[in-house]
Amino acid sequence: MSCFPCFSGGKGSKKDESGGSSDEDHKVTEEGKSAQIFTFRELATATENFQTESLLGEGGIGRVYKGCLETTKQSVAVKQLDRTGLQDNKEFLAEIVTLSRINHPNLVNLIGYCADGDQRLLVYEFMQLGSLEDHLLDLTPDQKPLPWHIRVRIANGAANGLEYLHEKANPPVIYGDLKSSNVLLDDEFTPKLSDFGLAKLGPGEDKNNASSRLTGTYGYGAPEYARTGELTLKSDVYSFGVLLLELITGRRAIDTSKPANEQNLVSWVQPMLKDQKKFPDLADPLLSGKYPIKELNQAIGTAAMCLQEEPMVRPMMSDVVMTLSFLSVTPFQESEPTPEPKPMPAPAPTPEPTQTPIPASP
Ligand SMILES: Nc1ncnc2c1ncn2[C@@H]1O[C@H](COP(=O)(O)OP(=O)(O)OP(=O)(O)O)[C@@H](O)[C@H]1O
Ligand SMILES: [Mg+2]
Repeated sequence: MSCFPCFSGGKGSKKDESGGSSDEDHKVTEEGKSAQIFTFRELATATENFQTESLLGEGGIGRVYKGCLETTKQSVAVKQLDRTGLQDNKEFLAEIVTLSRINHPNLVNLIGYCADGDQRLLVYEFMQLGSLEDHLLDLTPDQKPLPWHIRVRIANGAANGLEYLHEKANPPVIYGDLKSSNVLLDDEFTPKLSDFGLAKLGPGEDKNNASSRLTGTYGYGAPEYARTGELTLKSDVYSFGVLLLELITGRRAIDTSKPANEQNLVSWVQPMLKDQKKFPDLADPLLSGKYPIKELNQAIGTAAMCLQEEPMVRPMMSDVVMTLSFLSVTPFQESEPTPEPKPMPAPAPTPEPTQTPIPASP
């Protein structure tokens, strides 16, 4: 029996077992969805005047408050964007309309927005368990580490969300800032990506070019992004590879408390990717060996494909979704034989570690 009873099973909702979703879901949920417009007063009431006790956290472009909508009693997260340098109202509204139409079980739902005067606020569904970062990295002694099958579930769901943005949304959306703090978790540890498409909403020198603003977070950025500052679908795939490594190793993309050669996760892992015998050394020690070794190998192989130096040879997210779908989402039992996962093609020659620092979001 799992020691994490709340992790298992669904509520008979539209989610599939893997934390991902089916095409059927998209058709059902996409119809008739549009952004609600809120007044500043409504959101002030919802967050009890943006009081400090309601503050969930602060990121690169503003503060996030927990709130409760007065009319529906729905719990929400209200993101108040910094006022300096925001693009004009027309562009803001155009982006919101696009983003609010996107609907997928692995993407945090944008419920609505407020554009009163110079205020810009976004209203999202509230995610009960906060971010993956809070459950995976730097755990306090009273926190239980995430078991392997939950990590697989999270990887699967995040890959599904990113696949939807890249290959099903029209026009395609480049995420631009995939990282563990942007993967939020509901009460069943189903992951949803947050802040997608926000690269277009923040301040930027060239307001006409969505990918000209240096965004992203140090440690997750692809090598070509560090050189050119251009975000692409393939730079998102690279960031997914880093996220997958974090899930496997339990280490941060960048951890300055580690010895110098281990501070950059990708640089530390790269030499070991050449030798499958070393793969168990990469597994998070907090897993205490409780993972099927074939699945560990498969997950590391998938990360290696995503982290290839040359963007063109990185897989598309639909390939990643396919590969991860072969990993088990049921609790690991040491005595049980595990199914043979589909073999990954061998990664291209191991890329050199990326040393070039890229700007971090504050
Ligand atoms: N929909 C939500 N439900 C619950 N908590 C949320 C929600 N959105 C954000 N948060 C929490 O609010 C905090 C701040 O989020 P925010 O997105 O502003 O910062 P970030 O993710 O750390 O950085 P970035 O600005 O680069 O996205 C995070 O701890 C996040 O877990
Ligand atoms: Mg965020």
